[in-house]
Amino acid sequence: MKVTVSRRAHFNAAHRLYRKDWSFEKNNEVFGLCNNPNYHGHNYELIASVTGEIDQETGYVIDIKILKDIIKTEIEDAFDHKNLNLDLPDFKELNPTAENIVVIIYNKIKAKLNGNLDLEIVLYETPRNFVTYSGK
Ligand code: NI
Repeated sequence: MKVTVSRRAHFNAAHRLYRKDWSFEKNNEVFGLCNNPNYHGHNYELIASVTGEIDQETGYVIDIKILKDIIKTEIEDAFDHKNLNLDLPDFKELNPTAENIVVIIYNKIKAKLNGNLDLEIVLYETPRNFVTYSGK
């Protein structure tokens, strides 16, 4: 019997979508306003869902305080009020699209979880646009 435990979190961050090896015109064609050289911001929302067996002693899949602390340390402290392109080494050579951000977030949280737990991350870049990654 497996149960999923979820925690919601939030961070604000700036980014610019572009490739260094493309011309400004080609970047504009593909990324439009997201290629603004002066960057732009989003209010990112994420939902981290951990799935596993219920521990018979504690009744927990994961102590949600532990999940909360992992998200705080790995994601909120690292991403909040940052420029993803300039401040995070993860995006030095990686375009910070929602797709790439959700994979980075998944990898950071997954590395801190017990190996028997499954993880899924849903990342909202806007209230209507969101991406999902579960390690597949
Ligand atoms: Ni954007």
